[in-house]
Amino acid sequence: MYVDILLGLQWGDEGKGKIVDYLAPQYDVIARFQGGPNAGHTLVIGGEKTILHTVPSGIMHGKPVNIIGNGVVIDPVTLVHEITTLENKGIPVKGRLFISKKAHLILPMHKVLDAASEAAKGQGKIGSTLRGISPTYMDKTGRNGLRMGDILSPDFKVQYQRIKDKHLHLARQYDFEFNVTEDETKWFEAVEILRSHNNLIDSEYYLNDALSKGKTILAEGAQGTMLDIDFGTYPYVTSSNTISSGACNGLGIAPTKVKEVIGIAKAYCTRVGGGPFPTELDNEVGERIRQIGFEFGATTGRKRRCGWIDLPALKYAIMLNGVTQIAMTKADVLNDFDSIEACTHYNINGTDTENIPYDINEAKIDPVYKSFKGWKQDLGPYSTVGELPTDLKAYLTFLEGHLHTPITMLSTGPEREKLLFKNSMEVVG
Ligand code: GDP
Ligand code: IMO
Ligand code: MG
Repeated sequence: MYVDILLGLQWGDEGKGKIVDYLAPQYDVIARFQGGPNAGHTLVIGGEKTILHTVPSGIMHGKPVNIIGNGVVIDPVTLVHEITTLENKGIPVKGRLFISKKAHLILPMHKVLDAASEAAKGQGKIGSTLRGISPTYMDKTGRNGLRMGDILSPDFKVQYQRIKDKHLHLARQYDFEFNVTEDETKWFEAVEILRSHNNLIDSEYYLNDALSKGKTILAEGAQGTMLDIDFGTYPYVTSSNTISSGACNGLGIAPTKVKEVIGIAKAYCTRVGGGPFPTELDNEVGERIRQIGFEFGATTGRKRRCGWIDLPALKYAIMLNGVTQIAMTKADVLNDFDSIEACTHYNINGTDTENIPYDINEAKIDPVYKSFKGWKQDLGPYSTVGELPTDLKAYLTFLEGHLHTPITMLSTGPEREKLLFKNSMEVVG
């Protein structure tokens, strides 16, 4: 019937996994469309935490089918580990997870090349998750890559060796020691396991058949808009299109099939890795947000940089994605703040602008803030948006007006059930 897209509007880790998990029963299919195990999507259900890297966040429910789309890059070792962990928790995966034959494979040498490239960049490193993402997408666009469907080929090992030889040649250009023997053994074991699962499909046909039979799909993004390869803070970005158009490429779905674009944003802002962050709070306020919000990477455990909400960046993200509604997460993290700041525009060399400058990496940006009175209340007891503290409602009303986009969901804790809806939200699903 239609596709809704759910994606991050900031620099990743907005809480996409939690919202997908909540909405999943409303859809027939949940489909990841880009990124790979650089993602870490956290679900907290009945007090138990699950972090998904490659498996879509609909897997915890009985109903939807979960698809890993062609736009995703797959590390067989991580994926098998994830599947085993889920099965050990009693979550059935067989018959509920299907993988596009066209999804590209992350090879052990991709991880070596990622690490070698980062080491060579020194201070200017991207801060990659070292999961081999960039070298894998480079091989995809360079038309050298191996795809999931290739694991079914009788000469898979020959194809593997051919590309490995290229990688060894490339690696010689770096002053970087490595040994992939052990990783390779584990990698081939994982490939064998995935082959035995018998769940590789032509996902573009699967998804379009589902649509023509009246089914609904939720496309799950990874990373965030400001990490998009084209529109993010290049080169401090990831290597895929994280924006809504990436869902069309990454799943083989036409734009005419898309209905809602649900943008996820934190009530403040975080970033992990290098690159510009105009509203960063490199001080005790930022540290306080980090501690209360537990802002440590779900994939690498690194400290996330914290700052106030950046509305020029959010407006940019809303424009690029065609966001129709926003889910705001982690409002509870700001419960105890006397005042809350929202950056409404940037001042660059004495000129105010709401646009993201091309030279954002070098520009001297002074964020201009509007202050809001903190609500100073625990949000735990609230179950509807209508009853929320007046000061929080004032903050949300300002954001909706400024962003010209409704905030239809408000997340007030990591747990699945800590999610409040505004009436208009009932159009989703
Ligand atoms: P994702 O990559 O966008 O799925 O987000 P992550 O899982 O990497 O990071 C979000 C973190 O915030 C996780 O630890 C979530 O459990 C947690 N979280 C999600 N929503 C909320 C919320 O509303 N309040 C709080 N306090 N934590 C939340
Ligand atoms: P989710 O889906 C936050 C960041 C890395 C680094 C840059 C490039 O959990 O929101 P890469 O490994 O992709 O080459 O790293 O992108 N990054 C993320 N930051 N959340 C993510 O995913 C991220 N995936 C990559 O920290 O700065
Ligand atoms: Mg994450």
